[in-house]
Amino acid sequence: MLNFTFKNRTEILFGKDQIQEVAARLPENAKVMFLYGGGSIKNNGIYADVTGVLNGVVVTEFAGVEPNPEFETLMKAVQVARDNEVNFILAVGGGSVIDGAKFIAAAVNFTGDPWDILVKDAEFGEPLPIGAVLTLPATGSESNGNSVVNRKETAQKRAFGSDKVQPVFAVLDPQYTFSLPARQVSNGVVDAFVHVIEQYLTYPVNAPLQDRFAEGILQTLVSEGPKALATPQDYDVRANIMWSATMALNGLIGKGVPQDWATHMIGHELTALYSLDHAQTLAIVLPSLMFVQRDHKSAKILQLGERVFGITEGEDAKRIDLTIKAVQDFFEAMQVNTRLSDYQIDKSNINDIVANLEKNGMTSLGEHGDIDLAKAREILTLAA
Ligand code: NZQ
Ligand code: ZN
Repeated sequence: MLNFTFKNRTEILFGKDQIQEVAARLPENAKVMFLYGGGSIKNNGIYADVTGVLNGVVVTEFAGVEPNPEFETLMKAVQVARDNEVNFILAVGGGSVIDGAKFIAAAVNFTGDPWDILVKDAEFGEPLPIGAVLTLPATGSESNGNSVVNRKETAQKRAFGSDKVQPVFAVLDPQYTFSLPARQVSNGVVDAFVHVIEQYLTYPVNAPLQDRFAEGILQTLVSEGPKALATPQDYDVRANIMWSATMALNGLIGKGVPQDWATHMIGHELTALYSLDHAQTLAIVLPSLMFVQRDHKSAKILQLGERVFGITEGEDAKRIDLTIKAVQDFFEAMQVNTRLSDYQIDKSNINDIVANLEKNGMTSLGEHGDIDLAKAREILTLAA
């Protein structure tokens, strides 16, 4: 097992009506920025719940954080936060709103160009504290320090990460996910599945506990994901998916093991160039990446096949093929298409995708750093 340090500072408030716990956790003399997205929270009761617990607190609302949050929008929020001397951000939404809150929190007191936080890993001082109310289980953003920001102007989607911007608390009420459109339920399950894969499907380092954590989350997503589409009002199904998605990327399962993340990095270019949903990009890239990297990943692909999909018969090569197909079939069963052509992107676009990877310095990806631009091209060609 590799060396590691582990600390997760987010207090999880899980279950029905846990929003009531928020008021007691706000700082004294709080001046809260209530940050949210396109307004879905106004149709499902969450907005009313949040304004209820913020009763008597100084609140500045900022609405309109987009899916794949836009740098320009977040910079407007930074200005509003400065103008109103906000000292706490309450982010209510999915990964985009929570990621947006992290960027705003870091940028508010930053004196240079905040874009440098994303592209140059620029150091920033003490950020504003953040609380999260999660409405879409997917990214794990509610209890990690990662933030991904999109900039249409330059067709770039870039990330930064710091413990300092990790939410101090996160409300996870499964009831808040009942109103999700099927497409977002699917996206969330696929994203969480791929988060586990990025930290599991590398090479063995004799870390059986991490493997079992990972396989437990994958098995739960494979069994509960389709149920969330078939019986959307089932609280227990929603609860199990919600907790799985948080556990998939709160840092725990990736400790002491190698990590990949190439699927995510290649996927980010597909969102930056063609505005695909984050999970759609992962469903396109992962099966082809598994195929191209099958020799490096053979031991773990075989283990995934056996322990998660029950594939135990046949030669290794055959079992690896079947496991890749099982992953692809799972994404399709979750109604997320797995080919570039399903999204009107064809082989002629691959040059642009590879050029963007180069522009963003994504030239040695994966657990061995061996996914160079030629290999990325091979993966994308296979996914066409
Ligand atoms: O804008 P609103 O009205 O909130 O509607 C959203 C949005 O249209 C809607 N939605 C969310 N909760 C809902 C709801 N609609 C009805 N009922 C609810 N309860 O769903 C749409 C998508 O929301 P979004 O926040 O964009 O989705 P998601 O949580 O999948 O976040 C995706 C973003 O997170 C980044 C992605 O790159 C992408 O930008 N990621 C962040 C990570 C992290 N912080 O660790 C890791 C991930 O790999 C990922 O990169
Ligand atoms: Zn993801």
